[in-house]
Amino acid sequence: MSIKKVILITGSSGEIGKNLINHFNQVDSTSIISLDLNPIDNPKKVEKHIIGSILDKKLIDSINQEFKIDEIYHLAAMLSTKAEQNPIIANEVNVNGTLNLIDLCMKQIASKNSKIKFFFPSSIAVYGLDTNLSEPIKELDYLNPKTIYGMNKLYCEKLGDYFSSNTLFDFRAIRFPGLISVNTMPTGGTSDYLPEMLHSAAQKKSYECFVNSDSQLPFMVMPDAIQAIIKLMEIEKNNLTQSTYNISSFNPTAKEFFNIIKTYYNDFNISYKISINRQNMVDSWPSSVDTSKALDDWGWSPEYNIEKAFNNYFIPYLKKTYQ
Ligand code: SER
Repeated sequence: MSIKKVILITGSSGEIGKNLINHFNQVDSTSIISLDLNPIDNPKKVEKHIIGSILDKKLIDSINQEFKIDEIYHLAAMLSTKAEQNPIIANEVNVNGTLNLIDLCMKQIASKNSKIKFFFPSSIAVYGLDTNLSEPIKELDYLNPKTIYGMNKLYCEKLGDYFSSNTLFDFRAIRFPGLISVNTMPTGGTSDYLPEMLHSAAQKKSYECFVNSDSQLPFMVMPDAIQAIIKLMEIEKNNLTQSTYNISSFNPTAKEFFNIIKTYYNDFNISYKISINRQNMVDSWPSSVDTSKALDDWGWSPEYNIEKAFNNYFIPYLKKTYQ
């Protein structure tokens, strides 16, 4: 009988969390402990679901006592738009919450003297631009975030590297672009305009877009994001030349994305009502990122370009969901 690896997923009821749990459910070699402020859709998918906060140190201590954890996927966070509205609370959740999880790792390492892998979802929000750049941005460039969320993510990357001086702590991070999923919706993010646009079209509703039609960010589909997490976590450590990697698939402007949607949903209409705060955030983020390090070090490239995303993922699934 093989021993199942024990993984802890925080933010398990969020977008990435739900999709990651679905992935792990297809492989039989994991035992999932999930932690979220909200209940889980289907408790059968995990060994144990804990409703609670990553800021609750007593709760984290009790997890430390109860489990021997092999891997942590620390997904719980407050996304960028919500974070700008509540910067103090965002800092608390995004930074102190992460520290609590790193502390849990250190305690596990100290008591069990075994390795623990830690996955951290960072973001293109770590970059901060004053003018629009056309060339893709590399990991070490323009690290001057303008938002509290971007600052929090960048600092947590640094915390991950700092605590990696303990070689049993294996920290790995991806700077995600905007994510588009057919079965979940993001909450409180700034790249939400593309998924909202797509889901509105599929529901035969018009869409009021909160950024202008020229807005352009890198994006990818959720299945590629999940595959990337798995691939990065599985690769031998000595292949990695850095702890944190850019990835992305396509980067349409809002208008280009709308035009593609329109070819599938001919009656779909869009209007623009710009939120200055959200527009400023999008404008400070890169319109494309250089993903060559992820390709060189762990062989990552996306399965879905934008055509395949529409033909094989968005349209077939959304038609089923909303009809
Ligand atoms: N997608 C995130 C957001 O919009 C950025 O990482 O907040």
